[in-house]
Amino acid sequence: MEKTISYIQTHQERFLSELFGLLRIPSISASSDHKPDMQACAEELVRLLQKAGADYAVSMPTEGNPVVYAEKIKDSSLPTVLVYAHYDVMPVEPLSEWHTPPFEPEVREGRIYGRGADDDKGQGFMHIKAFESMVATGELPCNVKFMLEGEEEIGSASLNAWCREHKEMLQADVILVSDTSMIGWDTPSITCGLRGITYMEVEVSGPSHDLHSGLYGGAVVNPVNELCRIIALLTDESGRVAIPHFYDKVRIYSDTERAALLSAPFDLVSYRENIGVPEVSGESGYAVPERTGIRPALDVNGIWGGYTGEGTKTIIPSKAFAKISMRLVPDQDYREIADLFETYLRSIASPCVHVSVSFLHGGAPYVSPTDLKAYQAASQAVERTFGKRPLPFYSGGSIPIISTFEEVLGIKSILLGFGLGSDAIHAPNENYPLENFYRGIETIAWFYKYFAE
Ligand code: BES
Ligand code: ZN
Repeated sequence: MEKTISYIQTHQERFLSELFGLLRIPSISASSDHKPDMQACAEELVRLLQKAGADYAVSMPTEGNPVVYAEKIKDSSLPTVLVYAHYDVMPVEPLSEWHTPPFEPEVREGRIYGRGADDDKGQGFMHIKAFESMVATGELPCNVKFMLEGEEEIGSASLNAWCREHKEMLQADVILVSDTSMIGWDTPSITCGLRGITYMEVEVSGPSHDLHSGLYGGAVVNPVNELCRIIALLTDESGRVAIPHFYDKVRIYSDTERAALLSAPFDLVSYRENIGVPEVSGESGYAVPERTGIRPALDVNGIWGGYTGEGTKTIIPSKAFAKISMRLVPDQDYREIADLFETYLRSIASPCVHVSVSFLHGGAPYVSPTDLKAYQAASQAVERTFGKRPLPFYSGGSIPIISTFEEVLGIKSILLGFGLGSDAIHAPNENYPLENFYRGIETIAWFYKYFAE
């Protein structure tokens, strides 16, 4: 491993400038205007993987954005690791909040700034560099496959079918993923739980066109008012989701399991300060790590309708819209939750409006056992580079393909993420500390070593 570690240290600057090349491509999967950028990003990854030492690297079409697949098979008797990452990124609005443009990466105060710096180009790229370093030094101890997708941030809709079609090609002993975060730099952790998701859009339509609010106000249901009323009825005062049967399948954790979860250090004051809220909220009877880790939640991601331009305009808008997501936990089923949501919404909506409800995407929750050999290898690797044994951690985020991998390929994933709470993923000024970037590359290399032993 000496050669690998010294290779990583010697090539730090080049690694960074190659990452910048990737970060400059605006691969925003949510917007169809960026289709050519998705292609360009996939092609750039193919080049990077070829250069890094893959025997074979291709951009493969799917119903949606291309999947980049690459492999280096040293010997079929050796274990095989399938690396998964995503090269698509979230939209960048509000642009005015960025201190430097999102697709012009730069380093400031030890952090890489730019959309995708952490989620997930920065983290995914670390795998290409760990692989390159081990190939170049002759220290790669196993077979490696890469599958890099371009639709994670929009729910990986076409990946289920794609994985079924390429089951053989994707065969591996374990899937290794860096698309999550750690509790903190001083408290390394490995994610062993992800929440699922059901993502819905609601359209409330009232009058056939905007009305003068003086002439009609008081006599017609205003779709924006009505949508707000509906949304207010989706949760109750105790912080629970009010949809009937929503909690029917929520797994109840034992006191011992809850105590284990709560034994990880959690500082409420810095949590609050980091995100700038005066107080936290949520389901009563649960602490913050439980509210995000093992309990479901419902959030409005966006709401629009009516006049939002400069000055004022007196209207009753004709329509109102909202995008609403629900984070799910074992054993909730995202399709059932979509049905329950629609049924409840229709039952509470005023008969004076039309309501249309559409399902945008969904994904199942995931739990990874900590007694797997691969988990132990990851734990040893983190301990080696961070100097502390990592804690198992339930994250509130979702990566829909992880449960698809388990269901379709029958392979477990290790969520070896290096992000931090301060990385502002999905937000303006996304960033990723250089320290995590370099130390992560070394940790991944150690993972291969321990896993193949
Ligand atoms: N990298 C995140 C997920 C994540 C971040 C998990 C931090 C744990 C810790 C991923 O890119 C993501 O944002 N996923 C989406 C999935 C959704 C669009 C289906 C999410 O969770 O919102
Ligand atoms: Zn993301």
